[in-house]
Amino acid sequence: MAFWNRRTSIDALNNLDEKHRLKRTLRWPHLVALGVGAIVGTGIYTLIGIGAGRAGPAVILAFVIAGVVCACAALCYAELATLMPAAGSAYTYTYAVGGELLAWIVGWSLILEYSVVCSAVAVGWSGYAAGFLESVGLGLPHWLTAGPHAGGIVNLPAVVILFAVAGLLMLGTRESATVNAILVVLKVSALLVFIVIAMRAFNGANFTPFMPHGFAAHAEGTEVRGVMAAAAIIFFAFYGFDAVSTAAEETIDPKRDLARGIVGSMIVCTLLYMAVAAAALGAVRYEDFSASPEPLAYILRTLGSPLAANLIAAAAVVALPTVILAFMYGQSRIFFVMARDGLLPRRLGSINEHRGTPVTMILMTAIVTSLIGGLFPLAEIAELANAGTLCAFVAVAACVLALRVREPGRPRVFVTPWPWAVGSVAILGCIYLFMSLPPATRTRFFIWNGIGLVVYLVYARFSSNLAKQVYQGA
Ligand code: ALA
Repeated sequence: MAFWNRRTSIDALNNLDEKHRLKRTLRWPHLVALGVGAIVGTGIYTLIGIGAGRAGPAVILAFVIAGVVCACAALCYAELATLMPAAGSAYTYTYAVGGELLAWIVGWSLILEYSVVCSAVAVGWSGYAAGFLESVGLGLPHWLTAGPHAGGIVNLPAVVILFAVAGLLMLGTRESATVNAILVVLKVSALLVFIVIAMRAFNGANFTPFMPHGFAAHAEGTEVRGVMAAAAIIFFAFYGFDAVSTAAEETIDPKRDLARGIVGSMIVCTLLYMAVAAAALGAVRYEDFSASPEPLAYILRTLGSPLAANLIAAAAVVALPTVILAFMYGQSRIFFVMARDGLLPRRLGSINEHRGTPVTMILMTAIVTSLIGGLFPLAEIAELANAGTLCAFVAVAACVLALRVREPGRPRVFVTPWPWAVGSVAILGCIYLFMSLPPATRTRFFIWNGIGLVVYLVYARFSSNLAKQVYQGA
């Protein structure tokens, strides 16, 4: 079979043999916790400031735009995750719908997304952790808290947190999910405290001028500005619900629980973000907090609540690792599934018999993410992660639409409402957000995928299970 025609069968994905599948241990509350754990992180805690600097008070519009695009993508994810409850997320769906080559591109982009998100959040965490250590008199020297780009050698706290989270994951899914749930409650509570305190200082005058830098992304000197430039970075704050779909194979009742997990976590986070953004912008002028590396704590300090500011900072230090946890979990599963499909070396996909988790994969993920997090700057890492995610979202929405045409009669557990409108908003919105990223980020993304194509053509194309006819083509 020519490689561009190779597709896995949707029915085969629903009937994986027990020897090759991951243990089923998760229910929908675990999934909502996993989703919220992956979504609420550096985006709302830190990037809200950068977004406000790019768009002014209209950053709230950037939240709406990124939120609507993500909500549409989330609905598409829910439909495909319940139709194909197998690990692998967008990669697996694309393999069944669009064929091997497109699946490879999506899988390769997901590897970028998941790794780079872990690295970005670890760097953000390191900022809070280094500040905290400093405040208790245990400050680390600069060369141990920054990569070479900022005059240091390595960002050690980022490396340490990445290996700590990897260790937790190696202990097994259920243990990790329970710890995750506790930390999720903590970081959401901290945001609620922020909203209550900041709302008391609400001043409508802070919202004028509303859109000082216009709508479209554009350069002003060395800075990017405009509502869309803000939306392109704020997008980071919204994703993570896709990590839930990577847990499909480990979900006890995937048909019911996956849709609840994905859509539920998305709704909770969107409402929370709107409230945080409105409270922040109403409390302090955006020019004041946009440059702060810890904008929410900064706002509370400006309002005369240092204790609450420290609590927010502490919550970030304790709870941001849940984001790393969810993405590292997703990353190891993407590797696992690509190896199981024969596109990556098969021994990479082996599951540790005692733990029931892919230990080798998790360790490899920790090494790669800590190299990136230890050495590169936060903003560039976060924007690169967005590029990979946007690619995956386009693929998922396109798969939903393609399946509506190709297999309209296939029973669907979760049906995306108004699929053509929702799918189109997801696809066009993601493309517009991608175009609003800085040109250097887009170039890096294409270089990454160029390397991926070479790997596919010289290796994966021949090693694929479908090339060897292990699975049936659709
Ligand atoms: N949504 C996640 C965050 O904001 C990636 O950290």
